[in-house]
Amino acid sequence: MRKKVVAGNWKCNTTLQEGVELAKAVDAVVAEKGAEDVVVVMGTPFTHITSVVDAINTERIGVASQNCAAEAKGAFTGEVSAAMVKSTGAEYVILGHSERRDYYGETSEILNKKLALALENGLTPIFCCGEALAIREAGTQNDFVINQLKETIFQLSAEDFKKIVIAYEPIWAIGTGVTATSDQAQDMHAAIRAAVAEQFGQEIADGVSILYGGSCNPKNANDIFSKADVDGGLIGGASMKAEDFIQIINAY
Ligand code: 13P
Repeated sequence: MRKKVVAGNWKCNTTLQEGVELAKAVDAVVAEKGAEDVVVVMGTPFTHITSVVDAINTERIGVASQNCAAEAKGAFTGEVSAAMVKSTGAEYVILGHSERRDYYGETSEILNKKLALALENGLTPIFCCGEALAIREAGTQNDFVINQLKETIFQLSAEDFKKIVIAYEPIWAIGTGVTATSDQAQDMHAAIRAAVAEQFGQEIADGVSILYGGSCNPKNANDIFSKADVDGGLIGGASMKAEDFIQIINAY
């Protein structure tokens, strides 16, 4: 059975102290109530990872970076490599977020380098895909998203692909308060799973977790997560309010 995953993406928010407090608050509730059926992940800024790892029980909650360098090491000022991320105790890395693609020019070629390094270093990539509003309005969203995957994670070996978590994040739903309907999410997730089956076979398609992201909150999580091909969420804004994030975790 594939895993259910609820991952937070704090983006460029929280000071170190605020981040550690938030992580502790989430950890305390997960410790008390348990989240046995759900893998909980917090995607913190690079600067926070070590302190968050130290502040929580990482048996219960995984920590993700939100990016890693496309090069293994060397003279790349300001970059943080996959090996560095792994050495902090993080187990996951968010790759291909639309904000990285759109604001920092991350192409499929760059993402393939990052994916290879993340996997080599034992990190689990949470790989994002998703279409802009104009593509949704033109009705070509399924082809667009599947093409994003064909250019990237479908290039991996089956063994490596099995380590990937996919996050479908329609750009028009990110930070806008406009959520995809649960039917829109299900439709895309089913299309992604069918494409995975075509590429890697049904067994691998049945095993891959596909998360929904985009204005997910405690009110809509239940409905979205109830869909057959939605295996959890990648949560932005609501992951920075401990109570909201916990309610989303408990939506399962
Ligand atoms: P919001 O939940 O704030 O819309 O962000 C979603 C997202 O981009 C998570 O990666």
